[in-house]
Amino acid sequence: MLDGKRLLLIIGGGIAAFKALELIRQLRARGAVVTPVLTRAAEEFVTPLSASALAARKVYRDLFDLTDEAEMGHIELSRAADLVIVAPATADLMGKMANGLADDLASTLLMATDKRVLIAPAMNVRMWLHPATQRNLAVLRDDGVLIVAPQEGAMACGEYGPGRLAEPDDIVASVSAALSAGPLKGRRVIVTSGPTHEPIDPVRYIANRSSGAQGTALARALAGLGADVVFVTGPADCPPPAGVQVIPVQTAQQMLEAVEAALPADAAVFAAAVADWRVANAAERKMKKDGSGQAPVLEFAETPDILARVGRMTEDRPGLVVGFAAETDDVLANATAKRARKGCDWIVANDVSPATGIMGGDENAVTLITATGAEEWPRMAKDQVARRLAQLIAEALA
Ligand code: CTP
Repeated sequence: MLDGKRLLLIIGGGIAAFKALELIRQLRARGAVVTPVLTRAAEEFVTPLSASALAARKVYRDLFDLTDEAEMGHIELSRAADLVIVAPATADLMGKMANGLADDLASTLLMATDKRVLIAPAMNVRMWLHPATQRNLAVLRDDGVLIVAPQEGAMACGEYGPGRLAEPDDIVASVSAALSAGPLKGRRVIVTSGPTHEPIDPVRYIANRSSGAQGTALARALAGLGADVVFVTGPADCPPPAGVQVIPVQTAQQMLEAVEAALPADAAVFAAAVADWRVANAAERKMKKDGSGQAPVLEFAETPDILARVGRMTEDRPGLVVGFAAETDDVLANATAKRARKGCDWIVANDVSPATGIMGGDENAVTLITATGAEEWPRMAKDQVARRLAQLIAEALA
């Protein structure tokens, strides 16, 4: 699926550099031609010989290598590729990229390229969470750099948290999505997913039940068709898919702001199980039992209806607005009314009564309601529902 694609792979100097060798192997197994570039620090972790042996190509290392300049200058090298990949992208490389520094071959190539750049960051958890790295990340996102988010887990340095390099197959999936000439290439789609958490106090919250599985599958399927997906997600159980722009939020209000900031878009799909109410009298400090047996009284206020706001927009309304309707009774009637009430084009209705086992399960049975009527789909895996819906979205935007 990557047949003949030319990839420039910049390997940064971190302990995760060893995974770049497996990445080269997997990319080549899919037909890509991989040209490795090693930073000086990367050579402390992997040898140029192993990178070159796996890539079956020359490895580039030094900006001032005159033989290479005679063969192929750094400008040409940066543009000969279909995609530039940085894996692992260290905090240092990200800092250079975000600030336009070009003091070695890798950073110069990144400045000189006219191709898309995809980075897979990997670093110690503190370095990843450091405000400087997060600032650089935001700048790079705005610059259009594709990010394969690091994963959470035990790290080589003995700490635990986000910062581990994404697995090579995740990076390969993102590379494929970035290069795919799918029907949604060049289309921007917003997907909301997961629950929202509405605080009661700093340690307690109310929320809807939602694993985020359907929204995640949908974002993955849309990205697989080549869409630029902005994935606005509440605190879900399943990790976000690779190859999408992830915007994590907690509350309905934050989700609304993130969606508005992501506009304009060609389509927006609202798969999130947004809490309908927030606690109006949420406490600033943890509520304490005072021993009197008296329980606190919570007052509720409605959260903004994100789907309805976007569905009823006069300016910047996406061409296709898709909502979900989780119902336990009169699914068709309720969902049809919801479609009209929220001003959306399509509603994907599903029966979430406990007997169906859909909530938290791998399967879904949906009815798609559009302006022309309702279409009942057979029960199928959430991934399949996602692919079918993504295909219909692609047809509608064609
Ligand atoms: N939704 C939203 N913002 C909200 C509530 C819901 O964007 N504050 C979206 C959901 O993402 C979904 C659709 O609206 O796409 C319907 O959600 P659902 O929970 O089924 O409907 P409700 O708005 O809660 O309506 P009701 O209480 O009548 O079921």
